[in-house]
Amino acid sequence: MESDDDNCGCLTKRRKSSEKNLRSSTVNFTLAMTLPLGPVAHPEYFLGKRVLVTGATRGIGKNLVKNLHYLGAQVIACGRTDADLDTLCAEVSGIQPLIFDVTKWSTIERKLHSIGDVDFLVNCAGISYLGSILNATEEQFDEIFNTNIKGLFVITKVFAEQLIKRKAKGSIVSVSSQSSTSGIRRHGLFGASKAAVEAFTRCAAVEFAPHDIRINCVSPSVILSKTARHIWNKAKDSKGFVSKIPMKRFGEVHEAVQGILFLLSDKSSMITGCTMPVDGGFSAC
Ligand SMILES: NC(=O)c1ccc[n+]([C@@H]2O[C@H](COP(=O)([O-])OP(=O)(O)OC[C@H]3O[C@@H](n4cnc5c(N)ncnc54)[C@H](OP(=O)(O)O)[C@@H]3O)[C@@H](O)[C@H]2O)c1
Repeated sequence: MESDDDNCGCLTKRRKSSEKNLRSSTVNFTLAMTLPLGPVAHPEYFLGKRVLVTGATRGIGKNLVKNLHYLGAQVIACGRTDADLDTLCAEVSGIQPLIFDVTKWSTIERKLHSIGDVDFLVNCAGISYLGSILNATEEQFDEIFNTNIKGLFVITKVFAEQLIKRKAKGSIVSVSSQSSTSGIRRHGLFGASKAAVEAFTRCAAVEFAPHDIRINCVSPSVILSKTARHIWNKAKDSKGFVSKIPMKRFGEVHEAVQGILFLLSDKSSMITGCTMPVDGGFSAC
């Protein structure tokens, strides 16, 4: 079976030979619009734009990089693992790799000041710890919060500063989680870090709106990236969890990507400070 991380979902598998030249020098909009699924509905928003994606080496972030590249964006793919970034660059020619650990505040400031103008930001880097609050350690707390909110905070701050300085509009999307608003067993630490992401997003939306910068979140249920498959394949409560989702299934990576592309693009031009569930109806219950 093809790895979900490598499966661009809505495009790679479906791209037919007749469409091979779609991205030679320009995107053929007419042809793109005839393709069956979502991302191709947004080429006009991303063509020639520079998009910075964190957590780009795996899962949702990697799939997003492939979709954005297909849509004509110039993608700056961020990760902390050399080998994974090399693999991504080999798979998607023309993307710009950028190595940094999102927990390192000053490194991020330095790196982001060296890459030139960027139009869009997607905060996808994140880690999870699923376990009892009673077993959590200080080390785990610091690792989760440093990765999931500190890193996202400083990247967003530097990105917004740069946009404001050059009086440019921009859009930011972060990935939170359904556990930020629902009490889910074993999600105490992870859910708290993602709730911080959503609170930050609301406040940043208010502060950035006068500068024409929008910021939103997608809030997924379980999305079957390799990491999530690994966790949920062995979780005892996996079936019980699915049964609480009205659509009775976990999400696929490309379904989270669709939500991100919508909120990132001008299709959502009047939307800021919102968290959009991608959860099969879980949050509607
Ligand atoms: N999949 C789900 O079910 C689900 C549900 C709710 C929310 N989310 C959120 O969605 C996002 C993506 O999830 P995913 O399942 O696609 O994750 P994933 O496959 O595990 O990928 C996580 C990405 O984040 C990067 N990363 C982690 N720590 C980092 C650090 N300190 N510095 C730089 N990069 C770092 C990883 O890079 P390395 O390879 O170098 O570690 C990797 O590229 C995460 O924020 C996650 O919390 C996912």
